Amino acid sequence: MLIIPVFEKLPPQVGTKAQNLALKALLRKLANAKEFEPKEGRIFYLYEKKQILLGLGNVKKINVAGIMSAFGAATKTAKNHPTQKLSVIITEELLPFTQSIAEAVSLANYQPSAAYKTGKAAEKLKKEFIAEFIPIFNKSLSREQVETAKKNFQRGLEIGKTANEVKDWVNAPPNFATPQFFDELAKKIGKETGAKLTILYKKELQKLGMNTLLAVNRGSPDDARLVILEYTPKNADKKLAPLALVGKGIIFDSGGYNLKPRGHIEDMQLDKAGACVVFGLAKLLPKLNLKQRVIIVAPITESLIGKNAFKPSEIIKTYAGKTVEITNTDGEGRLILADAIAYTIDEFKPKFLIDIATLTGACMVALGDRYAGILGNDKELAEKLQKAGDETDELLWPLPIHKDFSEKMKGVYADLRNADLGSERFAGASKGAAFIKEFVGKTPWVHIDIASPAFTTDPKKYEQKGATAFGLRVLLRFLEKLE
Ligand code: BES
Ligand code: ZN
Repeated sequence: MLIIPVFEKLPPQVGTKAQNLALKALLRKLANAKEFEPKEGRIFYLYEKKQILLGLGNVKKINVAGIMSAFGAATKTAKNHPTQKLSVIITEELLPFTQSIAEAVSLANYQPSAAYKTGKAAEKLKKEFIAEFIPIFNKSLSREQVETAKKNFQRGLEIGKTANEVKDWVNAPPNFATPQFFDELAKKIGKETGAKLTILYKKELQKLGMNTLLAVNRGSPDDARLVILEYTPKNADKKLAPLALVGKGIIFDSGGYNLKPRGHIEDMQLDKAGACVVFGLAKLLPKLNLKQRVIIVAPITESLIGKNAFKPSEIIKTYAGKTVEITNTDGEGRLILADAIAYTIDEFKPKFLIDIATLTGACMVALGDRYAGILGNDKELAEKLQKAGDETDELLWPLPIHKDFSEKMKGVYADLRNADLGSERFAGASKGAAFIKEFVGKTPWVHIDIASPAFTTDPKKYEQKGATAFGLRVLLRFLEKLE
């Protein structure tokens, strides 16, 4: 099958002169019959030729989001007419978008793991999967242009493939994606990339005093762990401070004794999306040309109820020494991040630290599912990330941490509390970040709240319902630019 991009008011470019002319005639016929116009995202399937005409609109107005949406839609059309190979024509106008196109086709190709279905349903999932994507370049392009575009296409496919793996991990239910599953995953990534793996288990966490991570874990039959992957690039500059990325890894968020009600608890396997994204990133680090070491950290545990589970009113001493009153057990993400972040800063003294977490329902209310919230103490870093988001269609929008929000996170009995009481309906995303800020100190830091875009019921054209791997591509682009 072949995707043929068509711009408004531009002659189509499929191949030979004769082919181009034939297509031009067909497009005129289709336009007259009002069957197809090349508006952005419009699709016409030519059954006999196994070709998809893909409208891309006005060439002057194309952007990453529109291109990804269009190519995502075209890929899904191809999947409806099962095909093993999908070729994509890349014209000169599309050259700057080659990587995004490859990401979009690959992301749209995602099929939820067939492992959970049996019989015909499992077969169908496997059959719809497109095995190969092939870029086809116009003859008019120079050799250099083609070489670069080929590389970009390949890179886009690799990123898409990893994003799809991340989706599998995020979608995986807690009886499959167990803490042991993440041990194995981290081991595999360590082996593949040469990153040094350290997993801190219960005894070490106790010794270090990571009591908030341990408190959240108390209701779970499986121990918590802190997974650390230290990646040193081939031509690392040893003098440079490393970069640190920390992802929230709550395998299932029941809410604890502040139990989540029906309508809120069902998809809480998604609460490990931050950890899955940083693991996906770890896999791709060798593809980058970084000079700095990168430290990937993920605190992993479930938050359940039971006779040992932590309760509202408990006071816990954090790794950093500050004490926290538990005012809401459902604010568990900030608790495990507090210990993980403070430890990472102590141990690795990073140049900057980015954490990514499905932290608050409030962020979802504030920004809807097309934006992740971005907060922190370093404007320049946040702006760089936001720009990378615009370039990858993983959009970020800034939210404030006012000092009054920090005030609200002070405890009555202890130094801090993990949730505001009284005005808890307001500025929830900001207060979550205000809590984490207490554990960051002077290290430049950005917090990305992906509660909303990590998982979707209203997928974009290149997404599916469920996990989106949101965060992987924006972080990757951001790191690429540090090269
Ligand atoms: N895992 C949730 C956040 C979340 C909500 C993610 C919806 C995805 C979709 C988080 O642990 C949580 O429950 N946060 C609380 C914080 C509150 C208790 C301070 C929230 O948002 O209500
Ligand atoms: Zn929670």
